[in-house]
Amino acid sequence: MGFEKMWRELLPIGRASGGGYRRFSWTSADRECRAWFAEEADRRGLTLEEDRNGNLFAWWDVSGDRRDAVLTGSHLDSVPDGGAFDGPLGVVSALAAVDLLRERGVTPARPLGIAVFAEEEGARFGVACLGSRLLTGAIDPVRARALRDGDGVTWADAMSAAGNDPAAIGPDPDLLAGIGCFVELHVEQGRALETPVGVASAIWPHGRWRFDFTGQGNHAGTTLLRDRRDPMLPFAHTVLAARDAAARHEAVATMGKVRVTPNGVNAIPSAVQAWLDTRAPDDAAVRATVGDIRAAAENAAREHGVEVALAEESYTQVVDFHAELRDRLAKALGGAPVLPTGAGHDAGILSAHVPTAMLFVRNPTGVSHAPEEHAETADCLAGVEALAAVLEDLVSP
Ligand code: GLV
Ligand code: MN
Ligand code: MN
Repeated sequence: MGFEKMWRELLPIGRASGGGYRRFSWTSADRECRAWFAEEADRRGLTLEEDRNGNLFAWWDVSGDRRDAVLTGSHLDSVPDGGAFDGPLGVVSALAAVDLLRERGVTPARPLGIAVFAEEEGARFGVACLGSRLLTGAIDPVRARALRDGDGVTWADAMSAAGNDPAAIGPDPDLLAGIGCFVELHVEQGRALETPVGVASAIWPHGRWRFDFTGQGNHAGTTLLRDRRDPMLPFAHTVLAARDAAARHEAVATMGKVRVTPNGVNAIPSAVQAWLDTRAPDDAAVRATVGDIRAAAENAAREHGVEVALAEESYTQVVDFHAELRDRLAKALGGAPVLPTGAGHDAGILSAHVPTAMLFVRNPTGVSHAPEEHAETADCLAGVEALAAVLEDLVSP
């Protein structure tokens, strides 16, 4: 089935009223996305497997000997009100690329697999790339089982409600040992690519931190200003400090998620929880940015009689993709541009274990993690052609 038909079939799944996507792990939208992938795998006679961590794999096995496999694919989950392309473009393109290889009579000399990694965005349970982190041992399974969503449901409970065994999650060295290389195709997420297709050089180091501001809940009408211990004030100061610190260190810093308790219009909050996402070209800049934001939060909290605590929820070091594979891709694509990204990917997690590379498809506006995220169909089809060319090169004897 062609790229466009698959794309149209996937589009309605998990679409929210504002046009963005809410495809959160282990929800009904996630289940529908998984069923869609299973059907596409089945239609092609690919062998569908789910690993112990909720990651899906569709295998085109030629010899039955799962060694030195070429793996492609991406993810199907989304951020809240995310775009259609982040994740699904890599999965749909991988299926379409397999179709092209078959049309061209290619018989792979190595197994070829398409992966759908679980909870890549960390939108429901807070840690991005959770499926690939579990597979590679980058997160302790005890910690992963206990991660909670906004309603207090744990990863273990959500997984088990979906029929998976949370006791079995954790590193899978056998599966990993069979993967010879991984190539993830993804929509580009800034305005960094002027040609239809590019190749990734690196992923900026990035992390997530949680601030807990704790004050005293009280009446909005009767509590004198001088008597207040309002956690919203140091929080607000911290948001502005994040912007300043990022500018100072040539980093980016975002506070995009906040939880206010009790969240009443006529109540001074008792607590504010807020999440910080910080990224920069190097680790030192990320650490310096977070250090400055922390100092600003602590000063502001002291000034307002509020307690503040900071916890690092995840951190990913700089990723420099496998140089030989990167150059091989760029060459197979006739000298495609090579560029870094500030976005995180499962490819970044896998790259610590197997030679890994990425292809980017042009994003004309640069908007991503928002409903307006877009790529032109002609560029998506160029991406499929590019991925097919790269896979053909990699699976050839
Ligand atoms: C994932 O898309 C991220 O960059 O946060
Ligand atoms: Mn994303
Ligand atoms: Mn993605």
